Amino acid sequence: MDVLIHFFVGLHIIGIAALLGGFLTQMSAIKQGNARFNKAMLHGALTMLVTGIALVGLNQADDNTVNNIKIGVKLAVLIVVLGIVYVKRDEETAEKGLFAAVGGLTMANIFIAVLWT
Ligand code: HEM
Repeated sequence: MDVLIHFFVGLHIIGIAALLGGFLTQMSAIKQGNARFNKAMLHGALTMLVTGIALVGLNQADDNTVNNIKIGVKLAVLIVVLGIVYVKRDEETAEKGLFAAVGGLTMANIFIAVLWT
């Protein structure tokens, strides 16, 4: 079971790489005002949701304690990010503030994951 859990943590990390990586590729576009939400961000956010839920299930099945408040906060932040990226996925250019908010919330989620022990 441990190998399976670690495998899903690996997939979870691939998800955040796509979400944050998709955001970072738009950094210079943000300055020019023509950044857009891209497929890497959408698929990365979806991967985080699916692998996160799987990790909760796998940890519970293995009788590991899961910090439900931390997971709840990460889930709430991710739902906001996913909602924005999904709704705006077809827009040619994203509003600067909204785009920056998605990047900020994504980074906040990373620090919640690693600093909340
Ligand atoms: C962008 C959003 C997210 C980020 C950046 C993130 C990040 C991480 C990281 C870095 C880890 C490995 C370190 C650790 O064990 O704490 C992890 C583990 C985990 N994540 Fe996430 N996560 C996100 C969203 C979610 C969501 C939405 C869920 C559940 C619905 C979730 C559930 C879990 C679980 C169960 C683990 C392993 C158990 C634990 O040690 O807490 N994550 N996450």
